[in-house]
Amino acid sequence: MAEAQANIGVVGLAVMGSNLARNLARHGNTVAVYNRSYGRTETLIQEHGSEGTFVPAKTIEEFVGSLAKPRTAIIMVKAGEPTDAMINALADAMEPGDIIVDGGNAYFPDTIRREKAIRERGLHFVGCGISGGEEGALNGPSMMPGGTDESWKTLGPILESIAAVAEGEPCVTHIGHDGAGHFVKMVHNGIEYADMQLIGESYDLLRRGLGMSAEEIASTFDEWNKGELDSYLVEITAEVLHHVDAKTGKPFVDVVVDHAGMKGTGTWTVQTALSLATPVTGIAEAVFARGLSSMVAQREEVKNKPLAGPDGKIAYASEEEKAAFVEAVRQALYASKIVAYAQGFDEIRAGAAEHDWSIDLGAVARIWRGGCIIRAKFLNRISDAFDSGEKFESLLQDAYFKAAVENAQDAWRNVVATAARVGIPVPAFSSSLSYYDGLRSDRLPAALIQGQRDFFGAHTYGRVDMPGTFHTLWSGDRSEVEA
Ligand code: 6PG
Repeated sequence: MAEAQANIGVVGLAVMGSNLARNLARHGNTVAVYNRSYGRTETLIQEHGSEGTFVPAKTIEEFVGSLAKPRTAIIMVKAGEPTDAMINALADAMEPGDIIVDGGNAYFPDTIRREKAIRERGLHFVGCGISGGEEGALNGPSMMPGGTDESWKTLGPILESIAAVAEGEPCVTHIGHDGAGHFVKMVHNGIEYADMQLIGESYDLLRRGLGMSAEEIASTFDEWNKGELDSYLVEITAEVLHHVDAKTGKPFVDVVVDHAGMKGTGTWTVQTALSLATPVTGIAEAVFARGLSSMVAQREEVKNKPLAGPDGKIAYASEEEKAAFVEAVRQALYASKIVAYAQGFDEIRAGAAEHDWSIDLGAVARIWRGGCIIRAKFLNRISDAFDSGEKFESLLQDAYFKAAVENAQDAWRNVVATAARVGIPVPAFSSSLSYYDGLRSDRLPAALIQGQRDFFGAHTYGRVDMPGTFHTLWSGDRSEVEA
């Protein structure tokens, strides 16, 4: 049996797992490593063993035996059944007080269930969202751990040692109990979907609408990335657009099949939001837009039998007019992006209330400033807003964001109207604008919906001028009765 010397272990050595193990080792941790097939473990040690101290193990028992107490192991295997199998194998070999961390993109209700089952066995279970992809795992991810306060005491310093650093602070915080970490990671991914869709719509308007080349648009995104839109996603968008396909010499973006894939976290964000009655419209439209892109049969049918409509071209009389529209798109992107983040934070707030988690929204914004996919300069402003102690129901009421959206709204409206006129789909831009106008509306047509509901189903309604619940006798004399 190996000497119990490792302060942390990693199970599952595919790219994410081995990069995380290397990051841990590079930061002075002694890292036990285990993979179902030993070949991967050997490769890691051969190729990167010199980067720090690794303790390779051939069996789960050997792996657990090499961990110092409280034994702490991060599982980096496929979400779903493989995760359950590994959690059980570890729990069988571990002792009360030990800590099992699931670093995958687990669905938070699964994390709640697993945490309860493992807690009942006297161990700790931490669902930890990890963002930043392969590069982040190696050089500094943003991490969102849930679980008990006690597990955080051991795990916190370890995660802090490998997290991305933003303005001197590690991008990790204890989010809340049981599934809180995976919940916040789920919403992170939802915002990621919205942000990517908004960037995609901007690209479409410039490419199809204004007829700009991929290279010109790449340079436009490079410019945008220097200002208030400064973010990882805008930065990599420029990189993707600059890229030229070696086989054909065409812009890379032109040789990629336009069916967007998804692994499910965006869908979970929307499903969860629906059950919480939180309108995350930007995220929902982003998920549906990926769905539409992949409706192969329908799109093929329309290619053969076109549906009539305008040709997507935006007319402009001068270079100045064209430049003005590009600037309008930039502003529309900024305003819609603010709405997407505001909606995401609304969902976190609603989830926290539902599940009794105490989540510090300012801290969430702070750990998203570095390492993660949605890292963006304006997250500083979001954390300032939440940390200010100012009371607001929506981030859109914070003075900074209120002014930002108000300033951008003429451009935003122009972009949405133009897109509708020329026939370019902008579901995320337009739904974000409608959300904004919905919030602004003094009276909503929901009053009429209440009337309809009462008419066909006696669902009752409230009155603006008196308390109580009422019903109109629609099929009788149409007098009103108290319900
Ligand atoms: C991250 C990413 C990561 C992954 C997404 C991609 O934060 O590092 O969100 O978790 O890339 O799962 O999701 P889709 O395949 O659904 O686009």
